[in-house]
Amino acid sequence: MRRSTHFAQFGVPTVAPPPFQPLGRAEVVERTTTSVRLRCDRATVEVTALAADLFRVGLFGEGQPVDYRSHAVAKTDWPVVHATVDASGTSIVTDECTARIALEPLRIGFGDATGRQFAVDDQQLGMGFAPLGPDLLDPLGAPARVYKQHTRTTHYFGCGERTGGLEKTASRQVFWNVDPPSQHTASLNNMYTSVPFLLAIDKGQAWGLFVDSSYRLEFDLANEDPARCGFGIDGGPLIYYVFGGPTPAKVLERYTELTGRIWLPPRWALGYHQSRWGYRTADEVVELVREFRSRDVPLDAVYLDIDYMDGYRVFTWDKKHFGDAAALANDLRTLGVKLVTIVDPGVKIDEQYEVYTSGRDNDLFCKTFHGSEYRNVVWPGMCAFPDFTNPRTREWWSDNHRALIDVGVAGIWCDMNEPTVFVPTPHTLPDDVAHHGDGEAKLHVQVHNLYGQLMARAAHEGLRKLRPDQRPFVISRSGFAGLQRWALHWTGDNSSWWEHLWMSMPQLQNLGLSGYAWVGVDIGGFSGDATGELVTRWTEFGIFQPFCRNHSAWDTRPQEPWAFGEQYEGLIRSALQMRQRLVPYLYTLFEEASRTGAPILRPLLFEFPDDEATYSADDEFMVGDALLVAPIARPGTEYRHVYIPRGTWVHWWSGEAVRGPAHVLAHAPLGQPAVYARANTPVPLWPALAYEGERAADPLTWLIHVAEAESGELTLYEDAGEGYAYQQGEFARTRAACSASGGRIDVRLGAPTGAYVADRKRIELELRGIEKPRDVLVDGQAGDWEHDGARLLVRLAAGAGHEVVVEA
Ligand code: GLC
Repeated sequence: MRRSTHFAQFGVPTVAPPPFQPLGRAEVVERTTTSVRLRCDRATVEVTALAADLFRVGLFGEGQPVDYRSHAVAKTDWPVVHATVDASGTSIVTDECTARIALEPLRIGFGDATGRQFAVDDQQLGMGFAPLGPDLLDPLGAPARVYKQHTRTTHYFGCGERTGGLEKTASRQVFWNVDPPSQHTASLNNMYTSVPFLLAIDKGQAWGLFVDSSYRLEFDLANEDPARCGFGIDGGPLIYYVFGGPTPAKVLERYTELTGRIWLPPRWALGYHQSRWGYRTADEVVELVREFRSRDVPLDAVYLDIDYMDGYRVFTWDKKHFGDAAALANDLRTLGVKLVTIVDPGVKIDEQYEVYTSGRDNDLFCKTFHGSEYRNVVWPGMCAFPDFTNPRTREWWSDNHRALIDVGVAGIWCDMNEPTVFVPTPHTLPDDVAHHGDGEAKLHVQVHNLYGQLMARAAHEGLRKLRPDQRPFVISRSGFAGLQRWALHWTGDNSSWWEHLWMSMPQLQNLGLSGYAWVGVDIGGFSGDATGELVTRWTEFGIFQPFCRNHSAWDTRPQEPWAFGEQYEGLIRSALQMRQRLVPYLYTLFEEASRTGAPILRPLLFEFPDDEATYSADDEFMVGDALLVAPIARPGTEYRHVYIPRGTWVHWWSGEAVRGPAHVLAHAPLGQPAVYARANTPVPLWPALAYEGERAADPLTWLIHVAEAESGELTLYEDAGEGYAYQQGEFARTRAACSASGGRIDVRLGAPTGAYVADRKRIELELRGIEKPRDVLVDGQAGDWEHDGARLLVRLAAGAGHEVVVEA
């Protein structure tokens, strides 16, 4: 068997890697209007333009059919792009980019009409194989590698779930899903989910590269050799996609067109969620939720970890402690809280357990290489593992969710789906476990990185089928490129360490740059004991995560909002109320992400790629393009450095305007995280509801931090927050714009367009950063306004557009 690929970050090579053999001379064997097929040594290479800024390259070794089917790719029916292939087959020119193919030896590179070049093969090495020795049979295909030129001016980001800083230049990135040892330090490489996608920025211009292989794979980003970057896979055909950009937003838009985007979540998913491995009875859970209500702390969802099950048998309920699950879900519903349950892939081997016997009788589990049921130990003891590469398994798994959905569970939490097994130590399935492979038998080593993704897909499809009127809510620990269309991702078992609060920031930013727009880390940290200060600071950061959940392990200090006394409880309550107020803004960003793939929590470089100072802004980020957030990630610290990019940014609490680019020292005492609003950009806010749907979100407040000589705008997206009427036009968009100059402020609030009508009577316009004005005109008439020294509040009627003029 080939070498083990598990926990490669701890591995010491035992044999020298085989020598790399670059491809030699190539011959064009076929041309279409958008593609060139080449024959080279004993391989076939194909280069295809799929869109004006998107190319696909396939390297197929001896005996490998040209086949691009993939569980990562969502879009396969690309309309034929306008392109020209020259007579010699050495260039494919689209309206935006060019692929250049040199034949002797075969080298491929990309560029555009401005002369910019990107993803250009290294002249000496290019693409090729590292064949196993002549005495070894290599039925899975020889390991393949591509070497590209690395220029000094190129910076790399993305690469999915990582523990280190934002920029990945000079690093080596391994893609192989593992349940890593609990200390997620910067020395860790691969984690629970793999996204072999790279966003590169060269002199302010972005391009992207995605390697579509579920084998173990690796990126070398100018680590081995400062003049080269490269990527390699352990076997199978090597397929990669190149994105021309030239902005990060355009790269992400195309990448998420290829691999899919998040769906529009139910709006309750944007609220605060409480979890803990350790809620052991239904009564305890109801009591917990009542506590939230009596303490006036917002809450939208509560999670049941593995203890709700009967002996950890998935799709069952523990009769003693969760005997009447429907009553539990109902009690929570009346308190305005949704119930989410964990589901693990391991199915307990038990002849009396229907999920096991039906899976076995229908031949739906993974097999050993010799054809017997593969077994290993997880929480329930000895388990069998559903073979999610079999479409019949996915359907059966989907249907099993009925046991949860029928009693009123609102969301599914897919865990341990790398998959993790406990023997001999936390690990994953052996390389030679046999899979159905959608009808083409595969070994685990070939499909490993897809296991978690396909489990999440089955959960998602189950929710769509079993509860067709409601939008799915699925959270997954493991996945691959494209997971975003089936589940949101959380980053697993972090620790209650200040270092992990810091780490979360580059981690979520790179996930956002890798197509995972809907992400979050466990607020407060999962392992180890938190302190009140840590949970408060973490919540101040967590309210800006797309997914806002506090979760902890059973053997740690409780970390619910009130666990550390009144002082912290008050601060956490205020932070969570701020989250609730931000829901209309966040929901607008979720809608944008579902349409364009733009991350919700995004690095500064996403907006300012030409500003190199943003490349090292690891621990500050933007939420949409209107807010800049710089959390405190050290104990006893009230001040921190913040890099302010160009434009005018207004400190949320003090109203002080900063003109960027600038380095500032922000004062951020507990309760006042360093948040800056983009001047004159209207931010829509709700009242601080205890939960989504508590009452009509009335009034809607447009908050504007005003600065002279600036203008800004935002278009709010609204719909019912649940169901699919929005797909039939039941949504509304409302544009708001503000400009200020010469002592006059103009605010234009458009009338909502679209068929959805929000249940509200009032709109408020709140302007911060201005003195008491001489006059405020609303639609040409004297307005209804007040000024309290710090802010101007203008009251308006909902439903129509308004023009507000403020005269200093
Ligand atoms: C895993 C999960 C964690 C969960 C625990 C028990 O460690 O990552 O979130 O609480 O299993 O189910």
